[in-house]
Order: sequence, then structure tokens, then C-alpha cells
Amino acid sequence: MKIAVCPGSFDPVTNGHLDIIERASQIFDQVVVGVLENPNKTPLFSVEERCDLLTSVTRYLPNVKIDYFHGLLVDFAEKHGAQVIVKGLRAVSDFEIEFQMALANKRLKPTIETMFIMTRHEYSFLSSSIVKQVFELGGRLPGLLPPAVEVALQEKFQRRVK
Ligand code: PNS
Repeated sequence: MKIAVCPGSFDPVTNGHLDIIERASQIFDQVVVGVLENPNKTPLFSVEERCDLLTSVTRYLPNVKIDYFHGLLVDFAEKHGAQVIVKGLRAVSDFEIEFQMALANKRLKPTIETMFIMTRHEYSFLSSSIVKQVFELGGRLPGLLPPAVEVALQEKFQRRVK
């Protein structure tokens, strides 16, 4: 059985992430989405909220499951029996850091491969950071977010203003 992990912060999940997860799910028998719980960062959404949103938006993909992790990604991959780490690649600017991480992960666990799926051009500029900035300033991004995420973002920023 070929198992892949799709790691990220997913704060929050966008249609760009979802597209990569869906395309990975067509290639691998099982995809485990790994949500990073980083104690050094204060995310907008808690790890539980990020996992709940991911569970809800990937419900139509039966071979995708959601879990969170802290520590090394390769340990998380090994825990799930994954042979592959799948990442989305946007612009050239992603390449340098992804190259570093792929080589570090290879050194840590040589049996695990990193593979990249190129983003669709319509999502090539999209990031969770841009999404949060736009919503915080009262803007919207139709077609770039799952509806449940749009609602969650609106609620989050409304509550902050109050
Ligand atoms: O969505 P992000 O924030 O770009 O995802 C980054 C992520 C989770 C893929 C990256 O931070 C990660 O792999 N963290 C785990 C820590 C780790 O294993 N580091 C050593 C090798 S790079």
C-alpha cells in the first residue's frame, strides 16, 4: 500500500492545498494530511480548528485522513507507514526552502522520498498568509477558499473586532 503524507500549517486550508491533497489522493492509496502544531507560533486557528476544517473539506475523499504532529515530519511519516512526503510547489520562490527541507528530510530518513505537485496556475499566488491579511482588512477571495473556511474566517475576524 502506497501512503503519502501532505504536511503543512493549514492556517487555514485553501483551495490550493485542497487541490494538492485531491491530486495526491488520486496517485496514492492513502494520504495522511499532517497539520503542524508549532509551539513557537500563534496561529489564527487552533490545531483542533485546523484539523476540523480539513476533515470537513476533505470528506468527499475517502482515502484521505487528517492528523496533527509536532516534532520531525519524517517521524510523523514513519508513524503512518508513509513512503512519500507530498508538497505543493508554487513559484520559484518556494523552491529554495523546499529543496532544503527535502534534503534535510532525506538525510534524516533516506527511505522517505519527497515529491512535488505543481500548483494550478489559478492558485499560484495563494497562501494562507495572504488569505488572512485580506480577510482581516475586510476583503473576500471568491473561489479560492472552501465555503466552510470562508465562514470560519469571517467569524474569526468579526469576533476579533468586537
Ligand atoms: O504550511 P507550511 O507552514 O509551509 O508547512 C511547513 C512544514 C510543516 C511542512 C514544515 O515546517 C515541517 O516540515 N515542519 C516539521 C519540522 C521538521 O521536520 N524539520 C526538519 C526538516 S525540514
